Amino acid sequence: MDFKGSHILSVDQFDRHSVEAIFKVADSMIPYASRQSVTRVLEGAILGNMFFEPSTRTRVSFGCAWNLLGGEVRETTEIKSSAIAKGESFYDTARVLSGYSDMIVMRHQTAGSVEEFSRASRVPVINGGDGANEHPSQALLDLYTISREMAHRGQSIDNLHIALVGDLKFGRAVHSLCMLLTLFDNIHFTLISPEELKLEPQYIEKIKSSAHVVTESTELQAGIQDADIIYVTRTQEERFASSEEASRYKGLFRLNQAIYTEFCKPNTVIMHPLPRDSRADANELDNDLNENPNLAIFRQTDNGVLIRMALFALILDVVEQLPASSRPVNWYTARRF
Ligand code: NCD
Repeated sequence: MDFKGSHILSVDQFDRHSVEAIFKVADSMIPYASRQSVTRVLEGAILGNMFFEPSTRTRVSFGCAWNLLGGEVRETTEIKSSAIAKGESFYDTARVLSGYSDMIVMRHQTAGSVEEFSRASRVPVINGGDGANEHPSQALLDLYTISREMAHRGQSIDNLHIALVGDLKFGRAVHSLCMLLTLFDNIHFTLISPEELKLEPQYIEKIKSSAHVVTESTELQAGIQDADIIYVTRTQEERFASSEEASRYKGLFRLNQAIYTEFCKPNTVIMHPLPRDSRADANELDNDLNENPNLAIFRQTDNGVLIRMALFALILDVVEQLPASSRPVNWYTARRF
């Protein structure tokens, strides 16, 4: 894939080679993200960071990634504070905002909205999550995390057994991650969800057609037993007709240290795209796992900065300029990645 100037809308754009190319550039971003080195390679460039749905880590890590490369960030964070609330079309908003920015990251509640927006944009657009459809940068950071966690255990992504748990119907991070994993070899997917929130058939067909194995289960304990990775997700309550309906599915699968000790293989990696719902009626990933060294959730969030820096650097074609533009930071830093 030629990254230069391209939109990132769906993981369908990637092949295995392009994913590995992104990971290689992400590795080279560690000195900047860990505050050992500074670069101003994007000095003067402006990111339009447009989040029309709630977001903490995706919005802030895209902004930080751009800042760490030396650029400035402009944010729009709510539909009600933008002209979309006055009836402006995506076409007009895209024409206007792409005149003010060098790149745009957009999140919106409607599937396909970011793609529609990108068609009118004069600059590259990255999908920060479009409804229940896709979340490509999350899938890349999840897969990058999987690759690093497995490398520490002497394994690779190939031949992995991953158990995906929770709302697999509406979870866009799950959709993108599953599709990205199909690019690798011999993956065993165990899909653990309530009957009504199963991964939809088009995804399952695609997984099976790429010669991977799918097992479906409605039982957490049975499903996680042989997994290398457990990827837990939140009930996507904002996608349900009512909060009463969503609450039927909350708290059905709760992973805690006791269950982990009894049912998982040693060193099974625990992941979650976050936010984990820590309210008593959900508590899908218990705080008693916080000291478990296999809990990778905050390594995922750290890795998100590396992946987003890599995407920016590839799309704006500055990877080659990084070494020459780099110098040590001026301040004492105790921070380690
Ligand atoms: C995810 C999302 O927004 O799809 N969050 C994130 O970006 N890290 C998952 C979620 O909200 O449950």
